Amino acid sequence: MKCDKLMKLLAQTVASRKTASLVWIVLLTGVVLVSATAEAKSKPNELVIRIEEGRDTINRNIYGHFSEHLGRCIYEGFWVGEDSPIPNTRGIRNDVVEALRQIKIPVLRWPGGCFADEYHWKDGIGPREKRPSMVNTHWGKVTENNHFGTHEFLDLCEQLGCEPYICGNVGSGTILEMQEWVEYITFDGKSPMADLRRKNGRDKPWKVKYWGVGNENWGCGGRMRPEYYADLYRRYSTYLRNFAGNRLYKIACGPSGANYHWTEVLMREAGRHMNGIAPHYYCGSGKKSRSATRFSEEDWFAQIKRALYMEELVSKHSAIMDKYDPEKRVAMLVDEWGAWHKVEPGTNPGFLYQQNSLRDALVAAVTFNIFNNHCDRVKMANIAQTINVLQAMILTKGEKMILTPTYHVFDMYKVHHDATLLPVELECGDYQFGDEKIPALNVSASRDKTGKIHISFCNLDPKNIAELICKLRGAKGQNASGRILTADAMTAHNTFDNPEAISTAAFDDFKLKGDILRVTLPSKSVVVLGIK
Ligand code: AHR
Repeated sequence: MKCDKLMKLLAQTVASRKTASLVWIVLLTGVVLVSATAEAKSKPNELVIRIEEGRDTINRNIYGHFSEHLGRCIYEGFWVGEDSPIPNTRGIRNDVVEALRQIKIPVLRWPGGCFADEYHWKDGIGPREKRPSMVNTHWGKVTENNHFGTHEFLDLCEQLGCEPYICGNVGSGTILEMQEWVEYITFDGKSPMADLRRKNGRDKPWKVKYWGVGNENWGCGGRMRPEYYADLYRRYSTYLRNFAGNRLYKIACGPSGANYHWTEVLMREAGRHMNGIAPHYYCGSGKKSRSATRFSEEDWFAQIKRALYMEELVSKHSAIMDKYDPEKRVAMLVDEWGAWHKVEPGTNPGFLYQQNSLRDALVAAVTFNIFNNHCDRVKMANIAQTINVLQAMILTKGEKMILTPTYHVFDMYKVHHDATLLPVELECGDYQFGDEKIPALNVSASRDKTGKIHISFCNLDPKNIAELICKLRGAKGQNASGRILTADAMTAHNTFDNPEAISTAAFDDFKLKGDILRVTLPSKSVVVLGIK
């Protein structure tokens, strides 16, 4: 209630009741309430960055990717074939490789996803015209010609300069099949699989560190109970051998969202045999429209709130892991995450092709802040998926390619790769929508190897700017510079006709004086500042 209305009401009460003492009590209470509200409103947003307490490294693999044989991610996205008029290197699109090198893609997960548990790797080697085809039963029941297989994937990773992460088939495969795949890729001596690799044109073994033992085995990967999968994990992982100096980093299928029981059983029964466990969480879409680009503020709020839920998930799964692994030897690898909207009108529903707006950029930015702030346990994350599927970085149409707002967040946040996390304390106002509220701001900070400090800020409120005072505890800054991603509309997105509708720009709405930094964050924005 506004102050003048309250006073009016009180005056009326005086006239009608003439009970002066009661009125004074009410009046005083009202004044106290009004001034408390005013104080809450005027309380500045404050951030303390404890620079001297930096300890943990933000593993660059937190900025990892996921590519599945799904829709147009592999075919048309990465792979166009050697005879394509689209410029390519051994069948792999040059424009895509260049764009992903720009964001320093650190690791790429393949071949799925649900596809991984029905993939038989031997179908994807040898002369392409002789490779058998299969039906991709999960994704649109289309014919998969297996033209993109092990050699093409590892070539892609070499072109990208990133680590490969292969997910093996537990759901419909065999232990022997998975064991032979590792031998095929990494064995250097004479062996049936290494000889087959040589026959297929690759003499030297590759190095593959990250190896997943099945995908979503609680669902599309076999509908297993955690007790059953934990035993299978132990069995499969026994036969995954280290050859020729290649050390495998074995990753168990993790829980879906808040399935804490899965984490508990896996850690208890198989924790000592794994290097990592991989939870999945998709933050869905908005509340009503589910469209990637036509949504209301209600949808914006609901989507961001669901993205922030990652904080609770990571904290609670970490607490269970701490029980069995207090030294944090086993990593959490969130190897599928992102926003999942309705497919674009007129596209195959099994292809999961969606547009990508400023809202998705905010989803990515808060998720990265959460992962950064939990980097003592979270060592890898893989957004779903790199090209043309779900929360993509890149969309393609024939020879055309556009970069999404989410791509720009990866670009802005690459300064955190392998930097030292700086602990932060943030006190901020809320972004209220209807009866619900979330903190309006979201932050993480790090110091890179040259000593430069980077702070990534999100203002989640789509209507109000936020003033923030930052105290750099333990350091003084000489100069700073920044970049921003924002737009006039919440729904802003790039299209093939307007590929630069939303992009990053230089940002200078801040003042740095010694250890105090004052920043004005525009509504619905992502800002990254670098301080020397
Ligand atoms: O990323 C799309 C699908 O989502 C993956 O194939 C599956 O693992 C998850 O359910």
